[in-house]
Amino acid sequence: MSNRVYIFDTTLRDGEQSPGCSMTVPEKLRMAKHLVEIGVDILEAGFPIASDGDFEAVQAVAAEYSWVQVAALARSNRLDIERAAASLSKARRPRIHTFIATSDIHLKYKFNKSRAEILDEAVAAVELARSYVDDVEFSAEDATRTDWDYLEEVCQAVVAAGARTINLPDTVGWSVPLEYGELIGRMVKALGDRAVVSVHCHDDLGLAVANSIAAVQAGARQIECTINGIGERAGNCSLEEVVCAMKVRHDQLPFTTGIITEGLYPASRMLSSIITFGPQPNKAIVGENAFAHEAGIHQDGYLKHKSTYEIIEPNLVGVPESRLVLGKHSGRHALNQRCIDLGFDLTKEQLKQVYVQFTALADRKKGIRNEEISALIQQVLSPAAMETAAD
Ligand code: KIV
Ligand code: ZN
Repeated sequence: MSNRVYIFDTTLRDGEQSPGCSMTVPEKLRMAKHLVEIGVDILEAGFPIASDGDFEAVQAVAAEYSWVQVAALARSNRLDIERAAASLSKARRPRIHTFIATSDIHLKYKFNKSRAEILDEAVAAVELARSYVDDVEFSAEDATRTDWDYLEEVCQAVVAAGARTINLPDTVGWSVPLEYGELIGRMVKALGDRAVVSVHCHDDLGLAVANSIAAVQAGARQIECTINGIGERAGNCSLEEVVCAMKVRHDQLPFTTGIITEGLYPASRMLSSIITFGPQPNKAIVGENAFAHEAGIHQDGYLKHKSTYEIIEPNLVGVPESRLVLGKHSGRHALNQRCIDLGFDLTKEQLKQVYVQFTALADRKKGIRNEEISALIQQVLSPAAMETAAD
């Protein structure tokens, strides 16, 4: 089995359908440009039956980026599939992604249908989708709360009907890594090389990335994910996190993707500028503090050798540089470095005086700006202060 993992980006579909994230067609096109530039393998551009905007977005993305595989989502019914097919009619590499829920909870409360009926609808949907395009993905929504024997039956049937990718979503973020790995391993074994097994994890328990990785270790070869982890409720598996985990810990996770990691931070910034929020400051890889050090012990170690407290070179993910944040936990080494950066080469005694004033200020205030540090230095270097120091 090859170790190449396909990155299926659903920022423009699952991501876009969450609160505060809706995008216009031009905005989707702007975001798609970044996604294409960083090298996503499949770009899910919308759910065409949901709105004219989604229909147009799929059309526009497929026209603009004809060399990329573009996917359109459709429920397992004729209307949805025909609409998805129409949105992709001019695409060079179209994929119809059709889904239906398979868990008993959804069958009972959403559909009031039997397992046999759902199986038939899934097969009919895949057959219909295959009459339009060669590349059909089937998703068993709520796969992780579905009876495993029934799930395997559905997977076998839709593969026989022509699905090439079988996605097993953890729709409600319910699964845990060992369990999900076991489920994926079973389906990979059952399907062999007749289909690529894909994963799509939501982050309700904060396990979307861990679950996706466990799935890849068990044989999945497509990960569905989004920039900044946006998506329904707590979001989806974060693209930047899952890709970096495989890159940085390649010793443990010997898988490759086609992602150009240097574009991750710019892609995150672009998305934040389009939707109504950005990642939380402590978000891995792209958060404002992901490469910031404030504690004195950390700053001291970092200044001696970056590897003491940094496992990722910021440039690797497109972050210009690490930051030493000066606050109440900072030490003299970091302050001295900042003074040098600001153009002041202080003596030991001068640094001591600046440090005393700095800690007093830091106790009262969160985050100290460069101008404030310059002002403290000027005060210490002023003739009056020099005279006092000399006395
Ligand atoms: O979370 C989910 O199950 C989905 C499917 C439509 C793939 O988004
Ligand atoms: Zn989803």
